[in-house]
Amino acid sequence: MEGIFITFEGIEGCGKSTQANLLYDFLTSKNIECVLTHEPGGTPISEKVRNILLDNKNEEMDSLTELFLYFASRAQHTVEKIKPALKSGKAVISDRYFDSTLAYQGEGRNIPNQKIAEINSFATGGLIPVLTFLIDVPAEIGMNRLTTKDRIEKESLEFHNRVRGSFLTIARENKERIKIIDGMRPIEEIRKEIASIVLNYI
Ligand SMILES: Nc1ncnc2c1ncn2[C@@H]1O[C@H](COP(=O)(O)OP(=O)(O)OP(=O)(O)O)[C@@H](O)[C@H]1O
Ligand SMILES: [Mg+2]
Repeated sequence: MEGIFITFEGIEGCGKSTQANLLYDFLTSKNIECVLTHEPGGTPISEKVRNILLDNKNEEMDSLTELFLYFASRAQHTVEKIKPALKSGKAVISDRYFDSTLAYQGEGRNIPNQKIAEINSFATGGLIPVLTFLIDVPAEIGMNRLTTKDRIEKESLEFHNRVRGSFLTIARENKERIKIIDGMRPIEEIRKEIASIVLNYI
């Protein structure tokens, strides 16, 4: 049987990595073989692309260059890591995936969502997560939780609030797949909510 593909989405500092790790521990404790990965990155080649994307020195990067680098990273990640793991029946948890591209490059950089969806489908062979957790916090809170900032994180509060709004719109348009999680609550409370939702899928 194919494994389940679960993604975590949301703005910087919302708690994606924290909760992705906790879900990994939970599934592992249930003896479910699980792969924990992230975007951009996840394979050696994809990590090299990630370094270009997040490098503070690349200030002059064009929006389309940025978009295609994200897809370059994802194409390799999907083929080399995610699909083989799902095929062998493992659960795959990815810290960011397609919805981040829609929110950051679509809304944030004004690239049409339809175009992004088309290229994404081409780059991934149409691989869509079964379940996505959107951890929602106001941009001010997310930014305050972070210590060091990369190129994307250095964007203005206004940019991050627009991205937050876009994530919420995407979630409302994909109610079956995307669960909006209130990220303002204690880590343990969020962990329990996510675990109970995932239990319904495994
Ligand atoms: N529910 C929470 N309440 C308070 N602090 C939290 C909560 N969740 C995570 N944190 C803390 O906020 C910081 C950012 O969390 P985390 O790294 O999980 O966010 P992230 O969404 O992965 O961020 P990034 O997009 O930068 O990778 C960490 O120090 C983490 O311990
Ligand atoms: Mg993180």
